[in-house]
Amino acid sequence: MTSLPKDFVWGVSTSAYQIEGAAAVDGRGPSIWDTRCRTAGGVVNGDSGDVACDHYHRYAEDVALMRDIGVGAYRFSVAWPRVLPRGRGAVNQPGLDFYDRLIDTVLEAGIEPWLCVYHWDLPQALQDRGGWADRDSAGWYADYTTLLARRYGDRVKRWITFNEFSVFTLFGYAIPWAAPGITDRDQHLRAIHHVNLAHGAGVDAIRALVPGASIGAVHNRQRVLPEGGRPENAEAAALLDEHWNLTFCDPQLLGHYPPRVARAIEPYVQAGDMARICRPMDWFGLNHYGPIFARVNPDTTWGYGWGDAPPDSPTYGVGWAVFPDAFRDELMEITRRYRMPIVITENGCGGSDSPDESGVIDDQHRINYLRLYNASMHEAIRGGADVRGYFVWSLLDNFEWGSGYGNRFGIVHVDFESQKRTPKASARWYADLIKRARSAA
Ligand code: FCB
Repeated sequence: MTSLPKDFVWGVSTSAYQIEGAAAVDGRGPSIWDTRCRTAGGVVNGDSGDVACDHYHRYAEDVALMRDIGVGAYRFSVAWPRVLPRGRGAVNQPGLDFYDRLIDTVLEAGIEPWLCVYHWDLPQALQDRGGWADRDSAGWYADYTTLLARRYGDRVKRWITFNEFSVFTLFGYAIPWAAPGITDRDQHLRAIHHVNLAHGAGVDAIRALVPGASIGAVHNRQRVLPEGGRPENAEAAALLDEHWNLTFCDPQLLGHYPPRVARAIEPYVQAGDMARICRPMDWFGLNHYGPIFARVNPDTTWGYGWGDAPPDSPTYGVGWAVFPDAFRDELMEITRRYRMPIVITENGCGGSDSPDESGVIDDQHRINYLRLYNASMHEAIRGGADVRGYFVWSLLDNFEWGSGYGNRFGIVHVDFESQKRTPKASARWYADLIKRARSAA
């Protein structure tokens, strides 16, 4: 293994709706995910984030777990409807106070807070006005970001504008796998452009208000391959690749949309927009799990659907394929295309881990996955990728969106009945990795 720079950041990631619970406590307003969870068929089992890990009340215990693992950084998100219950206008003081307490506790534990402004939980009141399909959404987001930057910018220096732009726009507006569950080309294109504008406006607000801010955006990138390598799936893969991998990175970092999207999105782009979107960024946040296989499917909004991995692919836990080489290749591709420092803001492995008779959770499948992906990260660094940090998804088992509580990604097990936290074998493995990496630096 290569030795990493002394200031290499080891962290864990979470998001508000997936862990906080306390959905109707202290004045929080409803989000589009509360609505989704109440919609028949929206989430497996009818699960919801109403209680989740009850992190809103148990955050101090969770920060202590992070300190014990030895992480240097904690990536979390703010719930927009907790601080602005209707999305705009009146602020909710108890909601703002919660993040003050959280940030202070994280700092006292010697951990650096990395604040993600938006991880998918749009206030329902804003969806009722059209959500991201309304051009005004860029302004709503800018005002919300301004509120956070003013309030927390004295203590928080690491800022993330959005988590996984393409997932929540594609699955929210074209393929109905996430809130708000719309399937409409026109709304999808509008949402793409307005989220890009919001990103640019958010960067400007943070830059103006937070001295010394280090700002990134978190992109999910995974290679898109035609299912079975078949030529009839090639165009499906090419369009999905644009939607998934390029539609946000390219305008934000290169100042233009990829070709297919550029043609379709033209009616929504106004003079000056591309300069508003393409703002100077400090680092590229990468979330990566594994490659995607696309197949032609005329019944979907864009004519493509999710295909299957080759039948002989190695899989883990919930059946996702394990392709560590694709992770290395992605890091090299980002380096080639965007030439900037990279922080791996999510990487991890789901499963249905449960304790054995003695209460031990021996998640060797996750340790294997993390080991392989870390080795690939080292390969990319040797190949010239400027990787500055690595965050495991996730600290805790949590509400995994459409799959509810069935898919556990935590390195700490959560018993959702008792809310008892138990570090899994992977938490000890990660603690040890961090210790070894630090002493080798
Ligand atoms: C990512 C999301 C995160 C979590 C992981 C498993 O796409 O950003 O919230 O759901 O996948």
